[in-house]
Amino acid sequence: MTEKRAALVTGITGQDGAYLADLLLGKGYEVHGLARDVSGFDFGRLSQSAQREGRIHLHGCDLTDYAMFRNLVAEIRPGEIYNLAAQSHVPTSIAEPQVTSEINAKAPIRLMEAILDLGLDGHTRLFLAASSEIFGEAGGQILSEDSVMAPRNPYALSKYHSYVASQKFRKERGLFVVNGILFNHESPYRSPAFVTRKITLAVASTGNSAEPLRLGNLDARRDWGHARDYVEGMWLSLQRDVPDDYVFATGENHSVREFVELAFEATGRRVRWEGAGKDEIGFDADSGVRLVEVDPAFFRPSDIGATVGDSSKARAELNWQPRTNFAELVREMLVSDMARNG
Ligand code: NAP
Ligand code: GDD
Repeated sequence: MTEKRAALVTGITGQDGAYLADLLLGKGYEVHGLARDVSGFDFGRLSQSAQREGRIHLHGCDLTDYAMFRNLVAEIRPGEIYNLAAQSHVPTSIAEPQVTSEINAKAPIRLMEAILDLGLDGHTRLFLAASSEIFGEAGGQILSEDSVMAPRNPYALSKYHSYVASQKFRKERGLFVVNGILFNHESPYRSPAFVTRKITLAVASTGNSAEPLRLGNLDARRDWGHARDYVEGMWLSLQRDVPDDYVFATGENHSVREFVELAFEATGRRVRWEGAGKDEIGFDADSGVRLVEVDPAFFRPSDIGATVGDSSKARAELNWQPRTNFAELVREMLVSDMARNG
């Protein structure tokens, strides 16, 4: 009998953790998940077969507890580690830069050191979740692995720190480490702290609520894909013989405003915009009810205006491509939130 490949996923309670766990189980891996609160793992997010088989080995561990984490790696001896754990919210990183740096920069560096110290470097391949935030303001450029990186907030800096360090570990110490430079990816499992899920949750419930949805910059544009497609890219990137870094992106971007319009459209409502800037209001074009208001509390002092990524390297070398388009993504998230509302 062939031995099962063991994979360790940090951040398994997050959005990508759920999709990745499902994908790995489907491929026959022995899946180990690290979570600071094991009771926080939502088995209901997994596919029916994975739920039935209940095959995930959960380990309670905060990523800042280096000794415990190192012991887990020594014990599991995973063939693949996917480091997804992060403080992933940009505004929180401004309020909590130290915590953000601990988890997003120092923990991956310690993880790389642990693999080397334990002599697992010939055995363990490591995926690090980098971010399109490392590019900073792109000024309309389409961003690839070779674009200039100019991070502009503590979250982006922490991801850049880990990215640069990992290149040293790879080139100078021979570690098999890959960075996925991930553009925004969403799903029904996205936390409501992010704009897409905030919108779909609100739109799904506006029939019942008199409160308009309050948003920040309606004209911010993001290259939005589906998390399910991006975790496939993570897996593919560790199956190559040679480690490298890859941009994962759809290649098109859309505004927050478009996201709002499509979400309301899916519930049969059309938004009519009036006013400008912080005074802009979105009304129901038929009933005149206020659906959306701008709230300056959600503006970001150094927000990135627009992102769009060039994933041709991942498409050519990994045979990766995003399968879900923008309209399908909005609809899937909305339908899921409407179903949740009963
Ligand atoms: P997410 O939903 O915010 O999940 C983050 C995960 O990290 C959660 O499981 C969280 O656990 C865990 N975590 C946070 N602090 C921890 C700690 N001290 N110890 C152990 N675990 C900790 O993020 P995601 O959307 O799945 O993203 C996955 C990764 O991709 C992250 O590294 C993110 O920065 C990166 N990324 C995401 C996107 C995107 O658009 N989604 C784009 C670029 C890069 P709790 O459940 O306990 O909070
Ligand atoms: N969160 C939020 N809430 N964002 C808003 C709102 C609001 O009410 N109104 C407008 N926005 C704008 C933000 O200013 C930003 O320009 C855009 O919507 C997207 O914000 P988020 O959904 O919070 O995501 P993000 O782009 O800051 O960060 C996500 O993507 C990064 C990759 O580029 C996160 O997943 C990061 O972890 C990830 O690295």
